[in-house]
Amino acid sequence: MTHTHDHVEGPYSNTDPYDIPTREALERDAKEIIARYPKARSALLPMLHLVQSVDGHITQRGIDLCAELLGITPAQVTGVATFYTQYKREPVGEYHVGVCINTLCAVMGGDQIWSELSEHVGVGHDEVTPDGTVSLERIECNAACDFAPVMTVNWEFFDDMTPEKAKQLVDDLRAGRPVVPSRGPDSLCSWKQACRVLAGFPDGRAHEGVQAGPQSLRGLELAIERGWTAPDPDADRERPDEPVRPEEVSDPPPNEPGKPIGGEVKPGSQEGTNR
Ligand code: FES
Repeated sequence: MTHTHDHVEGPYSNTDPYDIPTREALERDAKEIIARYPKARSALLPMLHLVQSVDGHITQRGIDLCAELLGITPAQVTGVATFYTQYKREPVGEYHVGVCINTLCAVMGGDQIWSELSEHVGVGHDEVTPDGTVSLERIECNAACDFAPVMTVNWEFFDDMTPEKAKQLVDDLRAGRPVVPSRGPDSLCSWKQACRVLAGFPDGRAHEGVQAGPQSLRGLELAIERGWTAPDPDADRERPDEPVRPEEVSDPPPNEPGKPIGGEVKPGSQEGTNR
């Protein structure tokens, strides 16, 4: 018996072309995205978010459309789409839930949250519940360490989490109960809507809700209380108002092509060579 995998059934088929109204809308949006860049190919990252906002993940037809409109090959598009974890090669849930397991969050309880939550929901990393509501992902540092351990849902933050709060959050999402992110807008958009915002089409909600939380502002408050100021970086320069001259730079100059980057390099090896 032979199996073929070149046609995927379902609403997000990899091979079916876009219907005409969808294709026209995508082309209109793509034109706007491409116009932001001097070269069309530079628009690839937002273009991938755009096709993901329609298909829910990166499909073959999405890859083909990006390649066609940007004048590059599908292989080049695929190379980028598979490099960045925000582009999904498989469908995710309506609510894509991230648990930060990077260093600070992990030691503050992120690892424990992940293992309890994954067991509670019954799915693993980059897997989706059978009802399609929730998918889970172990995520790396979200630059929100001051609120560790953090979680995200469709990239909105849920700060200072515990295993109990994490399980309640996902139960609420699955039951359709409203949940409120710790910062930013006071309700969640869908995964596809979030992808559209990342493609560069704002939903007008960027300034809603708390922006910087108290933990982020604590250093600034302390500095104001104690009268601290940042040292003047130019204080010890002879001519602080003039640009830095090359001879004033003490670091070695950037690597020149073909010259070793430095350190021990094995003879005949390309390792450590800047090409
Ligand atoms: S380690 Fe989790 S946000 Fe930085």
